[in-house]
Amino acid sequence: MYFSLTEEQLAVQGAARDFARQELLPGVIARDGAMLFPKNEVRRMGEMGFLGMMVSPEYGGGGMDTISYVLAMEEISKIDNSCSVIMSVNNSLVCWGLEKMGTEAQKQKYLPRLASGEWIGSFCLSEPEAGSDATAQKTSAVDCGDHYLLNGTKNWITNGGSSSLHLVMAQVDPSKGSRGICTFIVETSWPGVVIGAKEDKLGIRSSDTHTIMYNDVRVPKENLLGPAGDGFKFAMKTLTGGRIGIASQALGIASGAYELAVQYAKERKTFGKPISQHQAIAFKIADMATEVEAARLMVLRAAWMKDQGLDFATAASMAKLYASDVAMRQTVEAVQIHGGYGFVKEYHVERLMRDAKITQIYEGTSEVQRIVISRAILQGQLYQPMWIE
Ligand code: CAA
Repeated sequence: MYFSLTEEQLAVQGAARDFARQELLPGVIARDGAMLFPKNEVRRMGEMGFLGMMVSPEYGGGGMDTISYVLAMEEISKIDNSCSVIMSVNNSLVCWGLEKMGTEAQKQKYLPRLASGEWIGSFCLSEPEAGSDATAQKTSAVDCGDHYLLNGTKNWITNGGSSSLHLVMAQVDPSKGSRGICTFIVETSWPGVVIGAKEDKLGIRSSDTHTIMYNDVRVPKENLLGPAGDGFKFAMKTLTGGRIGIASQALGIASGAYELAVQYAKERKTFGKPISQHQAIAFKIADMATEVEAARLMVLRAAWMKDQGLDFATAASMAKLYASDVAMRQTVEAVQIHGGYGFVKEYHVERLMRDAKITQIYEGTSEVQRIVISRAILQGQLYQPMWIE
């Protein structure tokens, strides 16, 4: 067993940490308050290579491993989770999905733009009546010979108001159930793509979450992604990797809150000494550090398994389930340690507490992760431990 990071991985982690502190931190409170999409920051993330980290260099990406991606996600999530969800959706869902399932022509046409940040992408699976029950797709695509006609509504679409490309799951043959679902690459400039209301959210407030309507959108046949009827499996496979991205976001929220709490506890004095020297606070810090470390190991293990080509689905679900609970618990503790200061925006922990909640909901709720984990165990597909030969 080998716990060290390579020099390259450490360099990526350091670059992400510096970028987050120098370029994201200064405006994060204002952007969150005004629900302002981080346009310049996203452009900079593209320039820094954070939007196509795992994409092959031949398509303009960084060609990095999942561990490097997770390390960068943790650092950026300590500071700005609107930026880190934009990064996660673009990397793990849109770029990964296109690279794995796309034709050569699709990859050449779209990946360089997405990896550079010239375009950002959205993953359009959820619908008003198809959230956790994702096979219940009502969006339809009718085969019209040289094109499909797409109609329907998608909900809670990350990057919805800012993306140039959507990966859209739609039902082509309802008689086949989930095997009738296809995935389409849709450019948002096409007629019939309507950007609906922007959501006013509890957390990740400067990320851009919208309802999207497709009204008779003509999708050329060459924009079908993967084999017809494989759209649901595509969505599940892609989300499995996405769950590592959101787990690393949750980890960053937890470790960011923990770091702020330790720093504050050493500075703030009550009853004549720093509050870190009161056992009530010192023990909280010990528990926080332990849980953050456990979450980090689970997230890194899931990433390592993906990089090794192992079946990482259960490990990814476990990492997301655990890290998102840790993010919730640790941000509440960080606010408590800050006392009244924790309840005001200036000290950052209240924002991290609000941001933490969504990690238990998107890319599969904690309940969905328990479905995935329990099915794997009860169907005898034991997840593979790290010490596999
Ligand atoms: N890989 C490949 N295939 C898979 C798979 C996987 N990980 N999981 C399921 N499948 C296949 C099954 O084998 C099955 O195929 P067959 O028909 O050939 O047998 C088919 O898909 C249907 O699978 P299930 O019977 O397991 O489907 P189900 O209805 O029981 O649902 C579920 C399972 C796990 C609950 C699934 O619906 C699910 O994950 N729901 C949550 C959806 C979700 O995560 N949404 C997130 C939206 S995107 C987002 O949040 C992004 C963002 O903006 C941040």
